[in-house]
Amino acid sequence: MSRIRIAPSILSADFGRLAEEVKRAEEGGADWIHVDVMDGHFVPNITIGPAVTRAVRDATSLPVDVHLMIEGPERYIEAFADAGADWISVHHEVCPHLHRVLDQIRQAGARCGVALNPSTPVEAIHEILHELDLLVIMTVNPGFGGQRFIAHSIDKVRRARDLIAGLGATGAHRADASSCVIEVDGGVDRTTAPGVVEAGAEVLVAGSAVYGHDDGVSAAIQELRAAAGGES
Ligand code: DX5
Ligand code: ZN
Repeated sequence: MSRIRIAPSILSADFGRLAEEVKRAEEGGADWIHVDVMDGHFVPNITIGPAVTRAVRDATSLPVDVHLMIEGPERYIEAFADAGADWISVHHEVCPHLHRVLDQIRQAGARCGVALNPSTPVEAIHEILHELDLLVIMTVNPGFGGQRFIAHSIDKVRRARDLIAGLGATGAHRADASSCVIEVDGGVDRTTAPGVVEAGAEVLVAGSAVYGHDDGVSAAIQELRAAAGGES
């Protein structure tokens, strides 16, 4: 099993002290910083844009993982790449021309991901899986932090892992990418992490479990890593 990466979501951080909160995650052992971008259309909530993403970029040397929960994401890919995003994920549900958008993300210099809502079957992206660096499986309905993990998602992660393993077997994956990594996003904490990791998730996004932990960010990250089966 490859090393589990913990990606704290700044959605649950104190935005008034954002740089400090990002640094706290880095010092506490985070692997990536997850940035949730919401537009008030695709999801009800509105959050942040490229300027704040740039502030996150400037506060850390960790990879910045941008999750676009916006309609028409093709209008903003370059802006987020220029702001320093290392990974950019778009939602399948808003991209009729997904192949083109993935190309656009790569052209902009970032690694490309696709996120799936809980009601979108993983099979919907079967034809494009070999193009992906990252598959984001939403384990809550996107829009807010602090929601309850949808237990059925574990089967979905498992199916995704099997589909990706199948690509490996046929050598179908893009030549310039090693493999597609599975990220889970929503309701991940020490109780839900073991199941998703066992099913094949390698990147765990966690907002409230990290920034809402009574013992602080560092303890939260260690706890998650231990629950995921890694060293604490
Ligand atoms: C939800 C966001 C998540 C969110 C996770 O729409 O995509 O990244 O911040 O927050 P928790 O871990 O609190 O569910
Ligand atoms: Zn997210």
